Amino acid sequence: MTVLASERTALFIFFGGTGDLAYRKLYPSMFNLYKKGTLREHFAVLGTSRNKLTDAQFQEAVRKSLGTTKTDKEAEKFISHFAYEAHDVTDQAHYSVLKDRANELDKKFELQGNRIFYLSLAPSFFGVVAGYLKSEGLTDSEGFNRLVIEKPFGRDYDSAEKLNDALSKSFEEEQIFRIDHYLGKEMIQNIEAVRFGNTLVESLWNNRYIDNIQVTLSEKLGVEERASYYDNSGALRDMVQNHIMQIVSLLAMEQPVSFTDVDIRAEKVKALRSLRVYNVAEASTNFVRGQYGAGDEQRAYRDEDNVPHDSTNETFVAGKLLFDNYRWSGTPFYIRTGKMLADKFTRVDVVFKKPLIDIFSFPQNHNAPLEANVLTMYIEPHAGFSLRLNAKTNGQGFQTAPIDLDYFVDDADSKATPEPYERLIHDAMKGDGTNFSSWQEVSYAWRFVDQIRKVWDLQQPQFPNYTPGSMGPASADELIQRDHRQWVYRLNK
Ligand code: NDP
Ligand code: BG6
Repeated sequence: MTVLASERTALFIFFGGTGDLAYRKLYPSMFNLYKKGTLREHFAVLGTSRNKLTDAQFQEAVRKSLGTTKTDKEAEKFISHFAYEAHDVTDQAHYSVLKDRANELDKKFELQGNRIFYLSLAPSFFGVVAGYLKSEGLTDSEGFNRLVIEKPFGRDYDSAEKLNDALSKSFEEEQIFRIDHYLGKEMIQNIEAVRFGNTLVESLWNNRYIDNIQVTLSEKLGVEERASYYDNSGALRDMVQNHIMQIVSLLAMEQPVSFTDVDIRAEKVKALRSLRVYNVAEASTNFVRGQYGAGDEQRAYRDEDNVPHDSTNETFVAGKLLFDNYRWSGTPFYIRTGKMLADKFTRVDVVFKKPLIDIFSFPQNHNAPLEANVLTMYIEPHAGFSLRLNAKTNGQGFQTAPIDLDYFVDDADSKATPEPYERLIHDAMKGDGTNFSSWQEVSYAWRFVDQIRKVWDLQQPQFPNYTPGSMGPASADELIQRDHRQWVYRLNK
């Protein structure tokens, strides 16, 4: 068989292969990989769910998800690699049918026994599927066997540990790829490039020069049709435990020994280990929560479909994180995220300390005080950086004013940027775990988050407390103002 240098060889078995995520994200991402030549002749997809579909019906659904027609030759060749098997993941005996089907596809497409088991279904099934994959011999093939699992990974430390114990009976840690789709985002990966590729940045990247770091994941939409999941999760579990903790660990970690998954993860874990786990008093002071009320044309969270009218679930979180280590002691990381906020964007603002002495503000000069330098990393929707410096304004006299050095990825490059799932599926095929969460990272993140949750579960919140289109409750501003600081991004500034 001939395999092109850029081509990857694997059989994908999608559990939950007829679900929203599979159709909306996974198959279109795989098609992109096909168009780029990463997937070509030697790959196959076996979709499964309880739904009884023929191969042709499944292929038709995949075609629809790609938005193509039968006249699109490239798409048709791609779709011809898709097969389907109706399968209930709790039916142990039926795994032998899947195994036969996998072997058949392996032979037909010459897949070298490489298998990726992608669990795109309710997390309560993760452990069961992993167990049967092993006990029924699906992982006995001669190539690699990897398990890709969706979020959420547990709902607290104990449940996450239980799940991890179940998975590790069948798969080694390096075979498990825990998806955090933020790690597949271009600009999140740029954090490492900017930090470790620039002496200018890394030499100042510590508590001597950085006053505080702010991470904002703002969403304009509300809970949409996911209330039954979201009302049992809340913003803390849904966004902080995973996406925000991953971003924070990339910002806080030391330089890895090498740019490999093992070394990068080791540094992220070290950073998370020095994150201060709050006691009750600290958790109450350093974290605030919110829930959106009604807006002009927006109903309140409690009036959304499938949300109980007395729900105390939070749709907003803001908090202060403290690292007890030499690099960061005394430099807080402020984080916030919420639904139904002013706009949809993700950004990191690194606020530097002001010069110790402001020589320009002598009495007869009437100069405004110097502003802090700020390095902003725009993650989404526009990708780029901005560095705020103080400079002399043009003309007579000596006045200073802040100026911004901006760089934004242009439209053509933005369009060519791989979608997170495209990148992550590619990485899973390569066996590169850099952009997936390791068990240790997940476990330290839960230990931190559990303390906040525990305190909140004992207190009755005053909800709703923010209006749609704002940047969350007043308490989020008070949290940072108490430290004589401000959010860099704020409305009406
Ligand atoms: P859906 O509810 O849309 O799909 C669930 C899938 O699982 C369906 O294919 C369903 O088919 C199948 N399924 C359910 N029960 C069984 C069973 N007993 N045996 C076999 N198959 C079963 O879920 P999503 O696609 O939205 O989510 C999938 C995973 O991805 C979840 O872990 C979710 O948290 C995660 N996720 C989803 C996101 C999204 O945007 N949708 C975003 C981030 C993460 P059938 O009922 O016919 O069996
Ligand atoms: C998911 C959360 O993990 O991330 C959603 O479950 C959230 O609630 C989504 O809307 C945000 O992702 P993105 O890529 O749109 O910022």
